[in-house]
Amino acid sequence: MRLTGVIAIDGPAASGKTAVGRILAQRLRHKFLDTGSMYRATTWMALKKGVDLTSEEELSRLVRELKMEIISVPGDGERLLVNGEDVTGRLRDTQVEKWVSPVSKVLGVRRALIKEQRRLARREKMVMAGRDIGTVVFPKAQFKIFLMASPEERARRRYLELENLGHPVSYAAVLEELNRRDRMDTERRYSPLKPATDAHVLDTEGFTIEEVVDRIMAFIEGR
Ligand code: CDP
Repeated sequence: MRLTGVIAIDGPAASGKTAVGRILAQRLRHKFLDTGSMYRATTWMALKKGVDLTSEEELSRLVRELKMEIISVPGDGERLLVNGEDVTGRLRDTQVEKWVSPVSKVLGVRRALIKEQRRLARREKMVMAGRDIGTVVFPKAQFKIFLMASPEERARRRYLELENLGHPVSYAAVLEELNRRDRMDTERRYSPLKPATDAHVLDTEGFTIEEVVDRIMAFIEGR
């Protein structure tokens, strides 16, 4: 079997995919792609353009008109540009949070973004984080990691993160929102959230980000 150079990191909301994936990519000198930001950016553009968020047809049309670019800004991490507009600051907006799962279950949206994810990975070695990277986007990825933690632990992490970003939120609301999104992502028809049968499942409860990265490195090097 021909394996691809992608390291897939999947898992439920706020399981640490992005934080872990970014550091792992640095250590391995790979590029990092957070595919969740692409679904969030699509949702933001749909909200901005007044697209009917319940219309699969309109959403599928919109996503095909979007050109996404990821640029690295020294000292400011990665920025996501959509049709030239920097949307990075909008990706955690309450309305995006509310609508991203309904938008992500639309087949036309998934097809367009998956095509783009595959294209980006053709050029360089990559750590890619999402929900369906090991199951659908790169079923032949060389390494597949599925991160887990209890809903309460994940809500605690996300609450602190949003507080740091200056978003006014309550822990209870974050927990409820996270459970709602996980339920929708797990129950959807296309690309449901689940570990690939050959994924290395890692419970991150009680571990720091660095410790999780160390464990993944040990797994990769031990192969
Ligand atoms: O950061 P967090 O784990 O909360 O979410 P995210 O990774 O930014 O993903 C936001 C939403 O995008 C998810 O709840 C999914 O509905 C969708 N998504 C997806 O369907 N497939 C992916 N590969 C990545 C995200």
